[in-house]
Amino acid sequence: MIIIKSPREIELMKKAGRIVALCFEELEKSIRPGLSTLDVANICEKIIRENGAYPTFLNYSGYPGAVCVSVNDELVHGIPSAKRILHDGDIVSVDVGATLNGYVGDACRTYPVGICTEKALRLIKVTEESFWEGMKYAKPGNHLGDISHAIQMYCESNGYSLPREYTGHGVGTHLHEDPYIPNYGASGTGPVLKEGMCLAVEPMVNEGHFTLRVMKDGWTAKTRDGKLSCHYENSIVITKDGYEILTKV
Ligand code: MF3
Ligand code: CO
Repeated sequence: MIIIKSPREIELMKKAGRIVALCFEELEKSIRPGLSTLDVANICEKIIRENGAYPTFLNYSGYPGAVCVSVNDELVHGIPSAKRILHDGDIVSVDVGATLNGYVGDACRTYPVGICTEKALRLIKVTEESFWEGMKYAKPGNHLGDISHAIQMYCESNGYSLPREYTGHGVGTHLHEDPYIPNYGASGTGPVLKEGMCLAVEPMVNEGHFTLRVMKDGWTAKTRDGKLSCHYENSIVITKDGYEILTKV
């Protein structure tokens, strides 16, 4: 069942989303070679807690980190570690959840570390652009599959692939609510979008083949072929005539 949020709840979603966006403002200034992935997570956790929120992912289904920090061929759910140091030329995805007054904001950005190859920068750019391609269809009356399809077409036409195991999702008082939102699919399928639906839309994009494997830590998902992967996410709300980003400052 897809939960429609009231205007009061949407205000609360925006307050949680703002804290997530504050983390990205800080990360943009601080990501650099030499930081560990734990340093990156600590920067976020500090901002989340200083703003009276809780890091949503911590202990979620037993996840051990405050946020997810995934490097290069790691697609999602990288566990922050003091031993994992960021190097010049890496790309790093930071997936942040903040729960404030019971409502969740969820978003992700991928950053270049130092000087990156054109190839890596293009993957980051196309992944973000595919989110905005999806947003062209985020309005009442359209189908959820229209968003999924737009993301898939844009990424595939740029030579990339979309992993099947992870999807976007509804978001609200829970991190994961109905509906699930694949990054591939057919237009005109799936639920019809309605005002007040809150959705976390999150293109996860591989440079090579879409197949993944999960590491022994039980969380970190990597590309099977060792090529790069990238992630971009915002929580949004469907409005009367379109959508609004919830995870913004
Ligand atoms: N943005 C991811 C998601 O929506 C983050 C979840 S990490 C977890 O699934 F540890 F909380 F699972
Ligand atoms: Co999410």
